[in-house]
Amino acid sequence: MLSPLGVAILVLVAYPLGRVVYNVYLHPLSHLPGPRTWAATRLPFIWALLRGTIVHDFERLHRQYGPVVRTAPNEVSFSSGDAWTDIFATRPDNRQFLKDPLWWAKPPGKPNSLLSAISPSHHAGIRKLLSPAFSSRALRAQEPVLQKYVNLLVERLREQIVQGGTETELDIAPWLNYTAFDIFGDLGLGESFDCLQNSRYDPWISLVFNSVKAVSFISATRYYPLIEFLLKKCIPASLSKKAERHQQQIAEKVDRRLSWEVQRPDVMSYLIDEDGKVAWSRGELDATFQILTTAGSETTATVLTGIICYLVNNPDKLAIVTDEVRQELQGSEDVNLVSIRRLTYLNAVINEGLRLCPPVPWMLPRIVPEGGEVVCGKWLPAGTSVSLQAYSLNRDPESFHNATSFLPERWLPDASTDTKSPFFNDDRHAVHPFSAGPRACLGQHLAWAEMQLILAGLLLSFDIEAVENKRLQWEDLRTFLLVEKRPLELRLRIV
Ligand code: HEM
Repeated sequence: MLSPLGVAILVLVAYPLGRVVYNVYLHPLSHLPGPRTWAATRLPFIWALLRGTIVHDFERLHRQYGPVVRTAPNEVSFSSGDAWTDIFATRPDNRQFLKDPLWWAKPPGKPNSLLSAISPSHHAGIRKLLSPAFSSRALRAQEPVLQKYVNLLVERLREQIVQGGTETELDIAPWLNYTAFDIFGDLGLGESFDCLQNSRYDPWISLVFNSVKAVSFISATRYYPLIEFLLKKCIPASLSKKAERHQQQIAEKVDRRLSWEVQRPDVMSYLIDEDGKVAWSRGELDATFQILTTAGSETTATVLTGIICYLVNNPDKLAIVTDEVRQELQGSEDVNLVSIRRLTYLNAVINEGLRLCPPVPWMLPRIVPEGGEVVCGKWLPAGTSVSLQAYSLNRDPESFHNATSFLPERWLPDASTDTKSPFFNDDRHAVHPFSAGPRACLGQHLAWAEMQLILAGLLLSFDIEAVENKRLQWEDLRTFLLVEKRPLELRLRIV
């Protein structure tokens, strides 16, 4: 007979060991390629997540094991263009790969937002109401708001130079964030965050990246409910209050916007009906604007930072795009969405930036529906978590010529028609920085417009170059759901 201590030891040692053996050799996913350590327990995955190296670790695993890798006992990662169709394409509601609630669950009692709504019908209902605010037609009406902040950015940067002489060195990354947040503050809620006006972050924004990082850590604990429970008990009241206050600030902006009588084509205007009523509950409205502000600003600023980082590290490409902008556009009044369509190289630069610097570098897991499904030729049982690695896929040497180099030429029209082009066989269709299917990015027209106007506005007004010994390498950045930016020091000279 075993003593109670013996039983306890047996349970504590034998059970985890048994699980490891089961996971590695007997689990329905055990035939899939991948390192045994990652298949055995969730711990290597969590460790990578907490260190911010998950994207690079996944990339290493995909290069070693191929496009399909088992990255945890119940999870499979894909780095293949077919995965966009197999996982994300529109399917009947009961066959959709739903978002994994472990990553998206809203706090109990809180309303759902567009991002956190998991049920397809609930999500579709919210999206249907919001979509007109992000159409090309809406964008045409919103363009003056974008131009206003692009001009303000240029003006503020000029002031920095005047203070420092004919040229100056500065970290451009916060300025791009200021612009993106100010634009969406104004466009979404009718009031900018005044970051450009004050040349500093609004405290609301300073908290955004920390909250995204916190979600990354909290989600890691959800794999072990006991740890999640203990962690929640340890969260200091002051931190919870800070989070509440963060949400409250957006609610106050929503309040102010709802009390307006003037008509303007911002996002909120599309949600208010003729009687001045909004179809959603106040909670849903606040939650959605909270999400929109983050999704619509941090992402765009990240890609712009990435593009400028690659441009200054590749002065030959910088010279080509700068020449194009200055030849095609005579002055700031030409920086508009119609004239910018002519700038073939600038648009190729943005496409290349989206390929190398996706601000959502790995698509958070989705769940295989009832009955199981085939993804990239592999049958997976229901309930398996599947994720797609945009970062690894976009840098795959099997899919792109000189895959990790910044070569906007791969997006020029002749790259896909001229059989002699080194980029002819590039798998450009595998690049989906805005995702695909019913949950693809709602703000992609807006994002493109912002990136085009901001980049053209900067290149028209300034000569830019890297500051030696302070170069940023994009591959060095860590990821906590979103990319953790570092300073991008530039030398800026007025043209
Ligand atoms: C270059 C900039 C941007 C990129 C690369 C980008 C990328 C993405 C991606 C990959 C997703 C899918 C996330 C997922 O399903 O896990 C997404 C969703 C979303 N994005 Fe963007 N985004 C950008 C800018 C914007 C902007 C400016 C807005 C405007 C507010 C916006 C609003 C949204 C919304 C609302 C969703 C959720 C859509 C849904 O679930 O139905 N994004 N974005």
